[in-house]
Amino acid sequence: MDTFHESVGLSNQGNPKGVHLRTGTVGLGVDIEEVGRFKKLIRNKRFLDKVYTRQEVVYCNSKKNRVQHFAVRFAAKEAVWKALSEAIRRSTSAIRHRDIGVKNAESGKPEVTLPKSLARWAKKVTISLSHTRSYAVAVALVRN
Ligand SMILES: CC(C)(COP(=O)(O)OP(=O)(O)OC[C@H]1O[C@@H](n2cnc3c(N)ncnc32)[C@H](O)[C@@H]1OP(=O)(O)O)[C@@H](O)C(=O)NCCC(=O)NCCS
Repeated sequence: MDTFHESVGLSNQGNPKGVHLRTGTVGLGVDIEEVGRFKKLIRNKRFLDKVYTRQEVVYCNSKKNRVQHFAVRFAAKEAVWKALSEAIRRSTSAIRHRDIGVKNAESGKPEVTLPKSLARWAKKVTISLSHTRSYAVAVALVRN
């Protein structure tokens, strides 16, 4: 989905909206993208610069099916945004797609990088990504 409106926030503190982000709070986010949409989008340098970190662009361009990797990173940013939506609402600065970075460990496991303004709300962010020729899916779990 290309909107932010279907966010899922869970709290283990008996607060279904996750309004008070105390230690142990869990935020959950999911996003799905149509890969085909990104074929055109990633030819636009302004879009690339606005959405992806330099490291992400290098990673995706090194892959055979690079469009899928770009699409799944977009999905990851949206999923993390959803999982962090309460914290982002409280953050003093606006958060853009490029602020939420995805880098891969040597094993291939994806990891999230966040700006300082958000990192204090999220001690641990876990994501899982999957993509086919048609769809790219990301799930994000936040613990603070
Ligand atoms: C790594 C692996 C899970 C990827 O699965 P896949 O079906 O080929 O591809 P998917 O589209 O579902 O997933 C790709 C994403 O997996 C993620 N991934 C890669 N290695 C990973 C790892 N070690 N741990 C977690 N996630 C990983 C990456 O984010 C990748 O996307 P990216 O390169 O754009 O970042 C798969 O190649 C593999 O090694 N499977 C082994 C499973 C196994 O041993 N099963 C037996 C017991 S269940």
